Amino acid sequence: MKIVAINGSPRKDGNNAQLLEVVRKEVEAAGVEFEVVQPGANVHPCMACYNCLDTGSLRCVMDDDGVNDIIAKCIEADGILLASPVYHSGIAGNMKCVLDRLMLAAACGDNQFHHKVGGALCTLRRSGGSETYHQLLATMDCMEMVIVTSDYWGVAHGADPGEVLSDTEGVEVAAKLGRNMAWMVKVLAESKVPVPETAHRTMTNFIR
Ligand SMILES: Cc1cc2nc3c(=O)[nH]c(=O)nc-3n(C[C@H](O)[C@H](O)[C@H](O)COP(=O)(O)O)c2cc1C
Repeated sequence: MKIVAINGSPRKDGNNAQLLEVVRKEVEAAGVEFEVVQPGANVHPCMACYNCLDTGSLRCVMDDDGVNDIIAKCIEADGILLASPVYHSGIAGNMKCVLDRLMLAAACGDNQFHHKVGGALCTLRRSGGSETYHQLLATMDCMEMVIVTSDYWGVAHGADPGEVLSDTEGVEVAAKLGRNMAWMVKVLAESKVPVPETAHRTMTNFIR
């Protein structure tokens, strides 16, 4: 059983990285593996070629920035935790690049994320946390995922690297999210109730 966390910060050892270590402690204590992947700033945006959807390759045609490794790890994982800094009241641009490609590629044919556990966290200096947290949730909200929450929105405050650890409440919220995600991963793994089948969705638009 494994949870993969995507750290959307371009900064090494920044606030998201340090908050994810809080989550790691809880997840590993529950006996679930935890891996953080950090794509960094040099990732391409989706170029809307639709090759992933047309071929069902579960990969992006742009193969030179590590995003395909992240796609593969997320498809393998039992849970996915999305973490991002708040940039101008939304997710960081590089995280948006990754999530657009990840979600499109994973939705090839039968959605690869159906009934995986999902959770989200963001860090910020002051404002825009709720918008960003909900933006992260929204990317999973159309993937038939089992979204897990904490007892408050997944938002923790800190500007310079490490400051987030002084946000006692934010740290507690993150820790609880980790415990809840690990628990749900185990519940689903041990459940005798089979997950419902998923099926390819008929895509329509509003002109026909
Ligand atoms: C381009 C940019 C935009 C930012 N916009 C916001 C913002 O809208 N609201 C806010 O509270 N903090 C904002 N911040 C601060 C970061 O969200 C904050 O420092 C965060 O904890 C960084 O996380 P990291 O250390 O994991 O990169 C911004 C920082 C950058 C570099």
